Amino acid sequence: MSRPCCQGITPDDPRFAELDAFIRDGHAAPRFLIAVLHRAQELFGYLPEEVQSHIAKALHVPPSEVYGVVTFYNYFTLKPVGKFPINVCMGTACYVQGAGRVLAQFEQELGIKPGEMTPDGLFSLEVCRCIGACGLAPVATIAGEVYGKLTEATAKKLIAEFRAQAAAEPGQAEAVGVATGGEPA
Ligand code: FES
Repeated sequence: MSRPCCQGITPDDPRFAELDAFIRDGHAAPRFLIAVLHRAQELFGYLPEEVQSHIAKALHVPPSEVYGVVTFYNYFTLKPVGKFPINVCMGTACYVQGAGRVLAQFEQELGIKPGEMTPDGLFSLEVCRCIGACGLAPVATIAGEVYGKLTEATAKKLIAEFRAQAAAEPGQAEAVGVATGGEPA
């Protein structure tokens, strides 16, 4: 599924109608809060206050409870993410194998720092803790795929390939696993 651009969510945004349809389709109870949040993040790309508020009203749960769930689970994000979200592991094994240099290369290629998204909405950059792939250190995930044994060169190559892919197939956000020096694990 494509990851829609996430800027400028207004009350008349048609994605709210899609979310409401999902809620009506057997998810209109507080116990479905996590499922509804998952669907909302698929639709909007992130979970800003207006989306949380909409869900709180629809499921009849306090906004504080929605916020609590969103901030508890790492999967959910309060910030817009790019079509290809990048998470660079800065856990110990990755750090000692050069994750800092890989991160710096991503920053240079993208012109952004961790916590930011490129103006074209293609990439967002984050750092994370160990993702359990220490044997492949240093690792990063891009659009959900794990890439290991990264170097500055393969980081640069990955960005170029994802950019080329986005240019060729602008609607295909989920396309990952491109042939690179840093193969998906
Ligand atoms: S420290 Fe990076 S995967 Fe474990």
